[in-house]
Amino acid sequence: LGVEIAALVEENLRLVPDFPMQGVLFRDITPLFANGPAFAELVALLANRYAGKIDMVAGLESRGFILAAPLAAELGIGMIAIRKAGKLPGPVVGVDYALEYGTGRLEVQPASVPKDSRVLVLDDVLATGGTAKAACDLLSQCGAHVVEVAVLMELIDLKGKDKLAEIPFVTAVQVR
Ligand code: PRP
Ligand code: MG
Repeated sequence: LGVEIAALVEENLRLVPDFPMQGVLFRDITPLFANGPAFAELVALLANRYAGKIDMVAGLESRGFILAAPLAAELGIGMIAIRKAGKLPGPVVGVDYALEYGTGRLEVQPASVPKDSRVLVLDDVLATGGTAKAACDLLSQCGAHVVEVAVLMELIDLKGKDKLAEIPFVTAVQVR
């Protein structure tokens, strides 16, 4: 996503040892959202990249919403809410995806997805890629075209990008 967004992410990251469990170094991007000027610059940079190239932004509940909503508003386009199971009133379509332990399910209202629209899938982090892949599958089922999956941070050791196969993918920062 470019050196400017990468710098914003790196400068506003908090490293949290042993969260959510012993031995895991959690990278908390919440401070970026709490830093008003940095957050505004992030949204402006994303808007600059995608202006004229997308018709809708899909945000993945819940951290993806924090990014997708201001970007959609800045571009004057719509945001598609891709939510965890049971949150959206029907009609919805859903896709199951693998979690570290068990499975999760994402849902979307087809009525919120314009046919043939060019959609950006936006989330904070790509780990195993299960969440992003499920979102892309849902959007395809609804007749949309996923232009790109964009995240602020990619955990490269988990090879989530492989799961996305031919879908274009971009990140600001790569970490192990
Ligand atoms: C986190 C993160 C991504 C996802 C990445 O969300 O925000 O959405 O995991 O993991 P994956 O690539 O292995 O699917 P989480 O489901 O923990 O919930 P949240 O966004 O509601 O905090
Ligand atoms: Mg998430």
